[in-house]
Amino acid sequence: MIHYKKIAPSIMCSPLFQLDTYLTELERCADMIHVDIMDGSFVPNYTLGTDFVRQLKQTTTLPLDIHLMITDPERKLDWFTFGDGDYVSVHFEASRHLNKALGMIRQRGAKAMVAINPATPICALDSVLEDMDGVLVMTVNPGFAGQKMVDSTLQKIRRLRQYLDDADCQHVEIEVDGNVSFENAKRMSQAGANIFVAGSSSVFSPGQSVSENTALLKRMIHI
Ligand code: DX5
Ligand code: ZN
Repeated sequence: MIHYKKIAPSIMCSPLFQLDTYLTELERCADMIHVDIMDGSFVPNYTLGTDFVRQLKQTTTLPLDIHLMITDPERKLDWFTFGDGDYVSVHFEASRHLNKALGMIRQRGAKAMVAINPATPICALDSVLEDMDGVLVMTVNPGFAGQKMVDSTLQKIRRLRQYLDDADCQHVEIEVDGNVSFENAKRMSQAGANIFVAGSSSVFSPGQSVSENTALLKRMIHI
C-alpha cells in the first residue's frame, strides 16, 4: 500500500510571536500542523496548552497533528479541540487504558496514533493493532526540540513497517518525530516513514524561509 508522504511542521519550533505570518506560509506548503502538548510529568517540559489548540483549530485550515505527551490521556482528551481529519497521538508509556484512549479519538473522527519512545519495543503494539491508524515513532526522547536522533530508531522504522505489513496492517501509517533533518528525513523515508514532523533541523532551521526549507525537505523525501 502506498501512503502519501506528509509534512507536519512542529509549531513549537516556530517563532510563536510571529505565528500569524508563519501559519499563512505553512498553509501554502505543509500538510498538517504538529502541536506538542507536554505536562511536565510525562516529559520534563511544558509547551502549548488547551486554549492554544482551540484557537489554532479556529484559525488554520490545516489539519492538526496533536502529540499528547501527558499522563493518563484517556482522562484528558475532552480538554482538547479536534475532530474529523485531525491526527491525535497518545503515548503507549503514558496510558493505563491505551485502547480506550484510541477508541475515544476515533469516536471524534480523528486518526488514532500510538506514540512510542525510542526504548519502547514494537511488540508493545501487539494488542492495539485493530485500534490504531498509525504509529508515531519518537526518534528522540520526547520533551525538547533540537535533540539528536537516537540512531537505533532508523532500523526500528524499517522493522515496524515490516511488522505492520506482516500483520496485514498495511493501512497503518508511520510518523517520525525528532531531529527529522533534511538528511535524516531521507533515510527515514527509505525506511518506511510517511509522515514527517519537521522542526528545528528542517522546516524551521535558520538561513532559509519556511517555504524554501519545506521544498528542500520534500525533495529529500521525493514528494
Ligand atoms: C519533541 C517533540 C517534537 C519536537 C521536534 O518532544 O515531540 O515534535 O518539537 O523538534 P526537532 O525537530 O527540533 O527535534
Ligand atoms: Zn512531537
